[in-house]
Amino acid sequence: MDELFRRWEGEDPYRSLRLPEPPQQRPYVIMNMVSSVDGKATVGGSLQPGSLGSRKDRFVMDCIRSHVDAVICGSSTIRTHPYYLGVRQKFEDVRRSRGLQPQPLTVILTNSGDLPLEAPLFQEAPQRPIVLGSEAVPPARQRALASVAHYANCGQEGVDITTALALLRREFGVQYLLLEGGPKVNYQFFRRQAVDEVFWTAAPLISGGQEDMTMVMGPQPLRPVPRLTLQSVFREQSELFLRYTVAYEPEP
Ligand SMILES: NC(=O)c1ccc[n+]([C@@H]2O[C@H](COP(=O)([O-])OP(=O)(O)OC[C@H]3O[C@@H](n4cnc5c(N)ncnc54)[C@H](OP(=O)(O)O)[C@@H]3O)[C@@H](O)[C@H]2O)c1
Repeated sequence: MDELFRRWEGEDPYRSLRLPEPPQQRPYVIMNMVSSVDGKATVGGSLQPGSLGSRKDRFVMDCIRSHVDAVICGSSTIRTHPYYLGVRQKFEDVRRSRGLQPQPLTVILTNSGDLPLEAPLFQEAPQRPIVLGSEAVPPARQRALASVAHYANCGQEGVDITTALALLRREFGVQYLLLEGGPKVNYQFFRRQAVDEVFWTAAPLISGGQEDMTMVMGPQPLRPVPRLTLQSVFREQSELFLRYTVAYEPEP
């Protein structure tokens, strides 16, 4: 067990992280979330900077983003924070040294098409974001999105996660994808057994609000149950940074 508790060498705890080869049909998917010790991923209905994670957590988020081709999230998260899901400039060279583009692609899921087209996410993007929608998105909205982003339909009533992952791999060459929520999108990925690793920041506080969300939220318990194996733990004062691999074993 002791070897799982890693010494924090240098600034970046995941500097020597090696991710396995991706599967053939989809990217290798890692999820990164922060929650309080009582399991809340939002506080008072949203996640504001500093309400759960520390500045160190924000830094570790960049460290993890430095390993992937693309970062994906749901549009509610984007409506709360309409910014490109990129890395700070100092990480661009790190990414180049790994053979990646200086900035990851930003990928957003929507079923309404209701995204802020004037926001920095689209207007100041270092690369054109990818918006994945469905035939339920009104055609005029699809056209508006296609003027500021790569837009693709991946389903009829909503984005089919398996179709979306195959498209990202095939059309955009995404081998490593970072899933950053929110909880409803995370749930759909787990439903499709499409989360390979979980990075979790355990923020040292109790939030307590019964209306707040947990990291993964959907209508029914997940089957098969995603089972996690701890790979490493870093500690910064009382904040923990954990990495798990995920297995989807059938129920006995
Ligand atoms: N603690 C953390 O680490 C963390 C991380 C991320 C987010 N958050 C917080 O989580 C909250 C939002 O979470 P959430 O679960 O309500 O929302 P979310 O997952 O960010 O977004 C949900 C939205 O994504 C779109 N979407 C989801 N699945 C889709 C599908 N299969 N096809 C098409 N569109 C799909 C829909 O957008 P439309 O409405 O456009 O149709 C849906 O309303 C925010 O407060 C955010 O700050 C916390």
